Amino acid sequence: MGIVLGIESSCDETAAALVDSERRVVAQRIASQDDAHRPYGGVVPEIAARAHAERVTPLVQATLADAGMTLADVDAIAATAGPGLIGGVMVGLVSAKALAMASGKPLIAINHLEGHALSPRLADSALQFPYLLLLVSGGHCQILLVEGVGRYKRLGTTIDDALGEAFDKTAKILGLGFPGGPAVERLAREGDARKVSLPRPLLGSSEPHFSFAGLKSAVLRAKEALDRLEASTSSAGAEAEGHSIPAQAEPVEPGLASAPSTAPYSRADIAASFQLAAIDCVIDRTRKALSASIKPTALVVAGGVAANQAVRGALEALAAEFGLPFVAPPLALCTDNAAMIAWAGIERLGQSDPLDFAARPRWPLDSDAAPVRGAGVKA
Ligand code: KG4
Ligand code: ZN
Repeated sequence: MGIVLGIESSCDETAAALVDSERRVVAQRIASQDDAHRPYGGVVPEIAARAHAERVTPLVQATLADAGMTLADVDAIAATAGPGLIGGVMVGLVSAKALAMASGKPLIAINHLEGHALSPRLADSALQFPYLLLLVSGGHCQILLVEGVGRYKRLGTTIDDALGEAFDKTAKILGLGFPGGPAVERLAREGDARKVSLPRPLLGSSEPHFSFAGLKSAVLRAKEALDRLEASTSSAGAEAEGHSIPAQAEPVEPGLASAPSTAPYSRADIAASFQLAAIDCVIDRTRKALSASIKPTALVVAGGVAANQAVRGALEALAAEFGLPFVAPPLALCTDNAAMIAWAGIERLGQSDPLDFAARPRWPLDSDAAPVRGAGVKA
């Protein structure tokens, strides 16, 4: 039996966890920085790095204390070494190096994306390689064939925004604050997804990739149209009732946008329509990957957006269509956490990385994947 201390600090969560090879999360602590970033409407890297520096040592101490353990009881120290906001990554990695050096325990440098990719195996002991993984987070949107630990074949990625980023931008447009994804999901429950006509970029495309930038632009136009209507309604009394609101002044992707909605709609309707459009894209792209000649053991989703119930429900139905089991980690394992980093350390137990391992701002899971078209590619 092995036990690994994991440290996560790649974005705005400082986290530490102890996980053993029996898949038990022995202890874990997460310090969210939401309050520190909220006034800015997004994560400010410098604020994040400083917060990680203040919190990481007490957090590790508290996690060990929760378990009644010391470093002498752990077999390795695993830390996120990238990709992510480099200041934060360096804080967590340097802390892990110091602990490894002081305790004489091996350091295991973990790719944060691998943490997400393997997290479903922490929760589900039956999940075997190879599985088809939809990895949807704030910085990434990829379809990967997970063939084994360290063996990832990227089948598709986004050519512009990540899915979580599209949720966050939609939240900002709708004035929902930060963090955006859960707020959009909550508001979408109150809305009608048929009310606002939005594009589904790359739906049916022969290339395997995702695109969400056009969808986000259409959300912005729908919100602007709503604002104009509300402004004219408040100046002209209630006479505006029955006015049509063009959801799209012009189609974003010629041929993909359908006719503008003629019915008035609410912010909740925009949230619901956005969420459905995004899910339609995700399902279309994932169906394409499943239809290719691979034989995965399961359809798996991981990353922050995997916490979204509508996304999970749609993927579960898709898996059933292909006669595959559907595996999604519990919600707490979807968004950033250290248990997934410690688990990746368990999967790599026996390996050790040098203490001069450099933090990596970019670190693709599949280094052989071909570059994709698009300006802001985050492959
Ligand atoms: O994996 P994660 O915690 O951090 C990254 O590695 O990026 O993912 C964070 C992303 C954010 O964009 C957040 O808005 C999104 O996941 N997210 C959600 C939900 N919960 C988190 N998006 C949609 N619905 C949710 N319930
Ligand atoms: Zn993440």
